[in-house]
Amino acid sequence: MDYKILMENALKGHPNRIKHTLGVKERALELGKIYAADLEVLEVASYLHDITKYWKTEDHLKLINNSFITDNIHEQMYHPISATIYAKSIGVSNPVTLEAIQYHMWGKIDMALETMILCVSDYCEKNRTFNDAKVVYQMALTDLNEAYIHMLESTIKHLKEEHITPHQDQIDTYNYYLKKENERIHDIIK
Ligand SMILES: [Fe+2]
Ligand SMILES: [Fe+2]
Repeated sequence: MDYKILMENALKGHPNRIKHTLGVKERALELGKIYAADLEVLEVASYLHDITKYWKTEDHLKLINNSFITDNIHEQMYHPISATIYAKSIGVSNPVTLEAIQYHMWGKIDMALETMILCVSDYCEKNRTFNDAKVVYQMALTDLNEAYIHMLESTIKHLKEEHITPHQDQIDTYNYYLKKENERIHDIIK
């Protein structure tokens, strides 16, 4: 299946989202090569990660069909879930690809390398104009974990400034990776 054509058709009318998706793919492959990740996983997950972004709420809900999930998350978080179900429906079966799509907003505890790369690429692809995108990109070239932690830190800080409560999973994931990173640094200097 040509996922690029599929994505371009699905996002027709949203040229900036197509540009963003292509930017994410480019970034993900660039980082994927540095960290010896699965490039096929990254390519497919990049193309599909925002494919349902502009669906109407009722279309997300029809596909998700699980009130436990939808009651517990903000509407903005529907698209990674519906995109994952959609990906399965068109035959994507690699669990890492599906994980990367589902958790592309902020990752998850114990995520695959490819999921972390997709999260970071989503944040720092070349069309992102905010300054932190450049900072995270530079960090990611040499230390993916550091880039990821910095990205989450900035996102949580930004949400708080906007008086939006970060999702508990986002905070838990941040704390998990921060602790892991501190332990790693401690081991190095011990
Ligand atoms: Fe997204
Ligand atoms: Fe995205």
